[in-house]
Amino acid sequence: MAAVEVEGLVKKFKATTALAGVDLAVPEGTVLGLLGPNGAGKTTVVRILSTLLRADSGTARIFGKDVIAHPNDVRSMIGLTGQYAAVDEYLTGQENLEMIGRLYHLTRSDARQRATTLLERFDLADAADRIAKTYSGGMRRRLDIAASLIARPRVLFLDEPTTGLDPRSRIGMWEFIGSLVAEGTTILLTTQYLEEADRLADGIVVIDHGKVIARGTSDQLKSQVGGHRLEFTVSDAADLPILRERVAPLAVDDPVVDEQARSLSVPVRGGAEVLRDALRRLDDSGVTLVDVGLRRPDLDDVFLILTGHASETSPGGASSGGASSGGASSDGASDGGAPVATGRHALKGADQ
Ligand SMILES: Nc1ncnc2c1ncn2[C@@H]1O[C@H](COP(=O)(O)OP(=O)(O)OP(=O)(O)O)[C@@H](O)[C@H]1O
Ligand SMILES: [Mg+2]
Repeated sequence: MAAVEVEGLVKKFKATTALAGVDLAVPEGTVLGLLGPNGAGKTTVVRILSTLLRADSGTARIFGKDVIAHPNDVRSMIGLTGQYAAVDEYLTGQENLEMIGRLYHLTRSDARQRATTLLERFDLADAADRIAKTYSGGMRRRLDIAASLIARPRVLFLDEPTTGLDPRSRIGMWEFIGSLVAEGTTILLTTQYLEEADRLADGIVVIDHGKVIARGTSDQLKSQVGGHRLEFTVSDAADLPILRERVAPLAVDDPVVDEQARSLSVPVRGGAEVLRDALRRLDDSGVTLVDVGLRRPDLDDVFLILTGHASETSPGGASSGGASSGGASSDGASDGGAPVATGRHALKGADQ
């Protein structure tokens, strides 16, 4: 039995269809990354799963317990860190956590002990007796996540857990999340940082306009948008046409030329040997390279190609389009299989 199972979830807010039939499953002890642009429906999925919102139709279950029929059973198994910090500003860190422990019916001394342990774990022991109002954004975020762990949930929902954290705190948070998974916690994570999904998620589901448009592991999604790219930067833009001509035989799709950046990106099949081949072809060309490299598509490329927008945080978005193979259309495919593009943003070539 999957820890989290969602089938055919539909939710409308007046004229807005937030969810138009979402299916997903999270096997126990794994991390699912739920990705999608702003307004895609991620938080709506999380709120329905955490019993805060009722779906119009479809089912959501936590370890087999339906969120509508058995909300209390569900609540006893889950922890939620919402998209916006939910700590009480006028209580200290210690008091915030003790209060939540009491809400979960821990005895006073158990609540105190659990609060102390979690504050230590989240590097907040020194700030335990300060009111949360004086915490930095990153400290609040950590307190928030600590709060969601008070009752030792089997399933944790993290809605953009690292948004607003500096890079060092983000890496710290990834380590915390990793250690929770190592202890057996199942996690559903939404994020705008694709590197975060890449690093933490066993499986990824991409939604847009309330629909699943792709699913698979990070590697499956990357290979779905095509193989490697050869990327060249030349010292003089006037060299680009000759460069392009020389490496054209290696391209498996249209090269992308960026005159301003003096760069050329060529989709290729194969690995290091293609790079060697390309350099040989340039031997007597007179082209002066300032940079050359072989790059795998990253999740930002995948996201851009799937949704048509760059992820919010990618530096300037991904480079080119040029997707190659895509899966056949099949809405609501089960998890674990090959990645499948299912939406109207289906990968180039998916419908052929
Ligand atoms: N309570 C509500 N009332 C009306 N519309 C809502 C409500 N909650 C969500 N929506 C709408 O439903 C859609 C999905 O919103 P949701 O918050 O789930 O998106 P999201 O993927 O979490 O976005 P973000 O990345 O910005 O957090 C959006 O169009 C949003 O405006
Ligand atoms: Mg959201």
